Amino acid sequence: MSYITLPELDETGYVVLDGYDQVLDPQEWQDIEFVDWKSSGETRFAPLASAYGDLECNGFWHHDPPKTDKDGVWVDANIAKAPRLKARAEEPGANIGRCRVIELQPNEYVDCIWNLHQDDNNRLNPEGTGWIVRGFFNLTDNPDSYMILREDKDDPSTETRIALPAGTQVIIDTQRLWHAVWHRGGEPRYCLITSWESGPELKTYIRDRHPRSRVDNAPLDPEVIAAAQETVARRRSERESASGVVMDVLSEA
Ligand SMILES: [Fe+2]
Repeated sequence: MSYITLPELDETGYVVLDGYDQVLDPQEWQDIEFVDWKSSGETRFAPLASAYGDLECNGFWHHDPPKTDKDGVWVDANIAKAPRLKARAEEPGANIGRCRVIELQPNEYVDCIWNLHQDDNNRLNPEGTGWIVRGFFNLTDNPDSYMILREDKDDPSTETRIALPAGTQVIIDTQRLWHAVWHRGGEPRYCLITSWESGPELKTYIRDRHPRSRVDNAPLDPEVIAAAQETVARRRSERESASGVVMDVLSEA
């Protein structure tokens, strides 16, 4: 027994879809309520759907009773102010788990590499059902910022850098790929993140939007990459010798 997965994500673990024209949409992320939730840098999150409809961002498996990352319950106060974002999350018609807007403060490439992590999307997910993947809809216009993906967190040759202009839509198997965002600029970045169950609904949604499972890597000086590798390795060994614990996954969004 295994999970239902999407062949579109087999090759690289991600697909970039057609950009979404959000010029006429209200900037609803400015009106909703954020809570402090540290993940992959200086972040806050505004939950639109949580485990049981409360204004909180914990993984569904941490609740009582625990549940897998499906059947999220809408957070009334936030969806009242963000009907368009809710509609975008619902458009695929797939089961929705966690659905939230992330606010990320600017950072450096080396911070992003330090923050690379895998998500725990499929804990408690019964085999034979759909594998949970996540959609990232960039809300602010951040053409000089990048979603950084790596198949192997310590191997830069496996890195993909996806630029994040407004309306960028990427669906990622974030339990497979190490990921974090390198956000350059002076203002916070906002992005709608939705957990969806793989299945025929999501497949149709993806196929209708010209999915690309490989994109040109945004250029980056190899010396910057090498310096970041070195710094991260040093920080990791410093932390391990200070704590006596081997570091594993850093964070979970
Ligand atoms: Fe994540």
